[in-house]
Amino acid sequence: MAATTTTTTATKVLLTDLASSVNHVPSNYIRPISDRPNLSDVQSSDASIPLIDLQGLQGPSHSNIIKQIGQACQQEGFFQIKNHGIPETLISTIMDIAREFFRLPESERMKSYSDDPTKTTRLSTSFNVKTEKVSNWRDFLRLHCYPLEHYVKEWPSNPPSFWEDVAEYCTSVRRLVLRLREAISESLGLERDCIEKALGKQGQQMALNYYPPCPQPELTYGLPGHTDPNLITILLQDEIAILLQDDVPGLQVLRDDKWIAVNPIPNTFIVNIGDQMQVLSNDQYKSVLHQAVVNCNKERILIPTFYCPSNDVIDDDYIAIYRNFTYAEYSEKFWNRGLATERCLDMFKTSSA
Ligand code: OGA
Ligand code: NI
Repeated sequence: MAATTTTTTATKVLLTDLASSVNHVPSNYIRPISDRPNLSDVQSSDASIPLIDLQGLQGPSHSNIIKQIGQACQQEGFFQIKNHGIPETLISTIMDIAREFFRLPESERMKSYSDDPTKTTRLSTSFNVKTEKVSNWRDFLRLHCYPLEHYVKEWPSNPPSFWEDVAEYCTSVRRLVLRLREAISESLGLERDCIEKALGKQGQQMALNYYPPCPQPELTYGLPGHTDPNLITILLQDEIAILLQDDVPGLQVLRDDKWIAVNPIPNTFIVNIGDQMQVLSNDQYKSVLHQAVVNCNKERILIPTFYCPSNDVIDDDYIAIYRNFTYAEYSEKFWNRGLATERCLDMFKTSSA
């Protein structure tokens, strides 16, 4: 007879339901010793990424703000923005929705579960459970959200205001991304609509990343080091992370081989350059490695919006260092390769580069 050593916890599909019942990190979440987060050797707040005030982007400070954006994209690949035009009430609404979603009963959440990365709406766990060897301390709900009317009906209908609130958030973030896209175009010395022209009709996806408290955060990652495969990412961190200043902030960015903790500032967004922007700018702008670490006290919620090229565009006017590819091909490589191994971008370099 087969040994019946499997505990009930091992049968949980989602981390949210496993985490509440364990006081050790299960073995499939434990990283090899050479690949664990160093929670103490992290540069602190005063070394953090630039904060750019978007007030006046349409006015007298225009060229100054464009310059700041250009410098941040070139040197850091990451910056924070304030006076971005997204109302505080909308920010707290989307955070509440995310929190409520992950508090729904397991059976309700599981209605959205899928381990297939090509699905346009899905709840899943870790990164790609089909290909990875070690799991990550994260659950996530991934949603395609542009054009909205194509996708809203696939979204969870619980919490009851999910469709309405998330749709409003997506619309608002898209307006912001479009302004940033123009500003970034300009900062490269190009026409404002240059990126738009190069990339065709652009998609938008988002994730609700949920990191439950972790009994042994030194053994595992929320998300190991990676760069984002898309064009621009707009990240919203939760206030809980802000209240717990003694904790290591969850998001860390690599600068000069050191991890910099990004301290959350209320009502700001974090913007980062993705791989496609590095390609478009011919390596002038950097898609920088970042990771999420977990903590033992509090759940954390992070809501990234990923702005992506349309799936089939090939832009041969701009690509020199990289070979021609479609975003569909790029995404497939990204999801199947596993994080923290080879940089996905390197797989697309031309042989002469
Ligand atoms: C991502 C990401 C950071 C975080 O989803 O690509 O970098 O802390 N998230 O969730
Ligand atoms: Ni990322």
